[in-house]
Amino acid sequence: MLKKRTIIISNRLPIRIEKQHDTLEFLPSEGGLATGLGSIYKQDDNIWIGWPGYIPENENEKILITEKLAEFNLIPVFLTAEELEGYYEGFSNEILWPIFHDRLPYAIFDKEYWRLYKQVNQKFCEATSQQQLTLKDEIWIHDYQLMLLPQMIREQHELISIGYFQHIPFPSEELFRCIPWRDEILSGLLGADIVGFHTYNDTKNFLNSCLQILNLPNTNNSVISRDRQVFVEVFPMGIDFDKFDSLAQTEAVQKKANEIKNQFKDLKIILSIDRLDYSKGIIERLQGFETLLQKHPELREQIVLYMLVVPSRDTVPQYKALRDEIDRMVGHINAVYGFNSWTPIAYFYNSFPLENLSALYVAADVCLVSSLKDGMNLVCKEYIASKAHRLDGVLILSELAGAAKELTDSININPYSVDSIASAIHLAIHMPVDEQRKRMKKSVEIVKKFNVFHWVKIFFNRLREVKTRQKKHTTR
Ligand code: G6P
Repeated sequence: MLKKRTIIISNRLPIRIEKQHDTLEFLPSEGGLATGLGSIYKQDDNIWIGWPGYIPENENEKILITEKLAEFNLIPVFLTAEELEGYYEGFSNEILWPIFHDRLPYAIFDKEYWRLYKQVNQKFCEATSQQQLTLKDEIWIHDYQLMLLPQMIREQHELISIGYFQHIPFPSEELFRCIPWRDEILSGLLGADIVGFHTYNDTKNFLNSCLQILNLPNTNNSVISRDRQVFVEVFPMGIDFDKFDSLAQTEAVQKKANEIKNQFKDLKIILSIDRLDYSKGIIERLQGFETLLQKHPELREQIVLYMLVVPSRDTVPQYKALRDEIDRMVGHINAVYGFNSWTPIAYFYNSFPLENLSALYVAADVCLVSSLKDGMNLVCKEYIASKAHRLDGVLILSELAGAAKELTDSININPYSVDSIASAIHLAIHMPVDEQRKRMKKSVEIVKKFNVFHWVKIFFNRLREVKTRQKKHTTR
């Protein structure tokens, strides 16, 4: 009898391949998605389809990689340098990413990008079809790199279960409309049975685009497209709470955290951790921090901004420019405000191992998230989980991050307002311990309950429910 399989599809596989001294290294990803879906794709005949992060040098290497990945239930989709440039750097990160993060002037509407985006989505579709799909299979497609894929698969498999989840925001209809290929993108997504987002706002924007652009009205968060009912719903993503909570309590992490505290003795540590990205509000954060030092000179030699920026997409020009601007501003603030042995900002442009991140979360008095637009933001949830055992620390969270809808006990900021950032930091470092604990306790409850495993469970439950309802309709 044919078994039911779960097929996960995302741009990146949960493993990254790198060539070091002529040897291929298979490096596991620590990302939230990989953790959440880990227990699923590794089971039975389930699989995960995606790009392995490496361009093979020859056919032999391709075969070797394919065989090795098959041991982990992973199916690679190999991309050429041209495809990566047009589909990933181009269409995904120079059109969709800026538009979906309200940065219209950054978008470059190059037709060649569109051609390659379609080509690569088709390649993913072929890789999926090669898996001899049956009606029992459930497909879960992730994120904006694969927006055409739901409909491409639907054309070949009319009744199969397809879920799509978008990890980044969905923009307003006016902004989305600027994309020359907006109709095709919406139709691509409507091939799914469920289109999921982190927030209610995103679902509203998506439904409004369907109405205004495709003339498809909605009722009760669903749209009828090509005679099928497509549900558009909210699934706020969580983290592996227990992993961060228990890691924070290990001896190794406690030791590292104490070292960090000793290094910044008598200073309140304000922590920020992000991928290099203009949507994270890194420049605005630095401006807010500078404003604080100007307004409150008494805080000099009392605080430090520990800022970790993780390298990302550095082949895309806007990311290179952002990095230069961060370097310039950090240099400026440290040179102008620092004195004696005090340096206001400890800045690192690097990837840190999970244990070091955990130690930073434990050591930090304040975690500052200042995204100008963010689908969810998981850093703030990791901070909360790392504080669960002691309940100390304060979270400052941008009201424009999806997480702000859930973590209502944090200090909210408008990240475009330097004064809002400055006064939030001031409030956070002076917050009485009782107040910190009260707020942290409530946030911990939320992050613990709505963890990543809960997220995966409710998504699949809903997909099954929707499919059963569709079947009833068709058999009536
Ligand atoms: C965001 C996106 C993901 C993406 C990740 C890292 O979280 O939602 O789809 O994988 O950034 O970006 P990268 O371009 O390196 O895959």
